[in-house]
Amino acid sequence: MGSTCVVGLQWGDEAKGKIVDLLCDDHDVVVRYQGGANAGHTVVHEGMTYKLSLVPTGILRENVEAVIANGVVIHPPALLKEIASLQAQGVNFEGRLHISDRAHVILPYHLAEERLTEESSSAADHLGTTRRGIGPCYKDKLGRVHGVRIADLYRPADFRERLARIVEYKNRLLNAMLPDFEPFDAAAVAEEYLGYAEQLRPYVCDSTSKLHEAVAAGRKLMFEGAQGSLLDVDHGSYPYVTSSSSSAVGTAPGSGVPARCIDRWIGVVKAYTTRVGGGPFPTEQDNEIGERIRRVGREYGTVTGRPRRCGWFDAVAVRYSSRVSGSTELAVMLLDVLSGIEELQVAVSYDLDGRRLDVLPASLADLERCKPVYETLPGWSEDLTAARTWGDLPRAARDYVDYLGRIVGVPASIVSVGPDRRQTILVPKDR
Ligand code: GDP
Ligand code: IMO
Ligand code: MG
Repeated sequence: MGSTCVVGLQWGDEAKGKIVDLLCDDHDVVVRYQGGANAGHTVVHEGMTYKLSLVPTGILRENVEAVIANGVVIHPPALLKEIASLQAQGVNFEGRLHISDRAHVILPYHLAEERLTEESSSAADHLGTTRRGIGPCYKDKLGRVHGVRIADLYRPADFRERLARIVEYKNRLLNAMLPDFEPFDAAAVAEEYLGYAEQLRPYVCDSTSKLHEAVAAGRKLMFEGAQGSLLDVDHGSYPYVTSSSSSAVGTAPGSGVPARCIDRWIGVVKAYTTRVGGGPFPTEQDNEIGERIRRVGREYGTVTGRPRRCGWFDAVAVRYSSRVSGSTELAVMLLDVLSGIEELQVAVSYDLDGRRLDVLPASLADLERCKPVYETLPGWSEDLTAARTWGDLPRAARDYVDYLGRIVGVPASIVSVGPDRRQTILVPKDR
């Protein structure tokens, strides 16, 4: 007991990285349990900005160990590059990063397969992915025949032989689909990946047993979700989702640690909503409000640099995702971005062809037709970035946060008013 899960309750980029970093003082091990280099988590501290993609955010704190667990998909060159760039920023990895030997490996043909669908002539097939090979790798994992795990890289003879068979299959498929396809050379790919494996060797371990030992020793774990609950492959806005269990339900399968070890389930939300890539977004503001939020909140993707789509807080979506993720408290982020907007809107239900809906519908066609029903709340004009206590916030900002907690059904315990670790407010319980 005593462990914590931090997940996004929207479509990603809720500022999970900041919350994980903030809570590191009370934890011993930070665990990434799903996703891969599609994630981009930002931490700002003492003028330094750190960008984390595959490496758990806990690596930034000397007292914490970082685990990339079995549920993550790893592109070795991306991971090695990230390790090198964090080391150049002074981060120490010695004995602190642990990579599961059960995690699956992203290979070059996964990137080619993703290009094939994302560049397909049929617009309906584009999901607007990050093109990091995530979907095709998870597909091979679940398909089993072509999945490659980190452990496989340490049996060179078997790996070379098996990869030759997989690459032959992939080459035939890609050649049939792409007119000027340059076939992959299985032997060259094998040698390249065996080279990566040597560089990663000091970190690779049985992370499942390592985490079980940590739990038995009473150490506190923090599970760092990537993406957000509405991008969850089962519970999100399918098919415009990622290929993993990116809500809190993914912690157990993605780490081997039973959910009963976790007692604090933090749902991270922006004070508004953003989304990158395609898919329905009922409260999207494709107008000057959306542009203002994008400008003030610097809403551009960490991984791809794409402008994020912006809109009002969607309490229908978050009520649903907080239930799926079992949230016990909310962290309301980027509240400062809303300063100066006279009236704030929050979607409290949807109108679907004249019917009132209080939950997210399963069908994409239905969700696309949902029109939000808004509640209007007064805004505030004050700059919030220097606020450090609940009492420093203007009344309207406090009321807005309390309203979000009530309408979602989960109270806010943390409010963030700027990217820096210090720009954080702990919400008093007895207010
Ligand atoms: P993550 O993927 O959920 O970790 O979120 P990202 O790092 O992709 O995006 C969140 C962005 O908001 C980052 O650039 C953070 O530095 C920044 N940020 C975090 N909290 C706040 C806040 O309270 N106010 C403002 N203005 N920016 C914030
Ligand atoms: P963090 O952890 C926001 C989105 C992509 C696309 C969809 C599928 O920083 O919150 P994928 O490459 O995963 O197959 O793309 O998911 N997406 C994210 N959006 N934040 C992320 O991560 C995301 N990771 C994936 O834009 O719409
Ligand atoms: Mg991000």
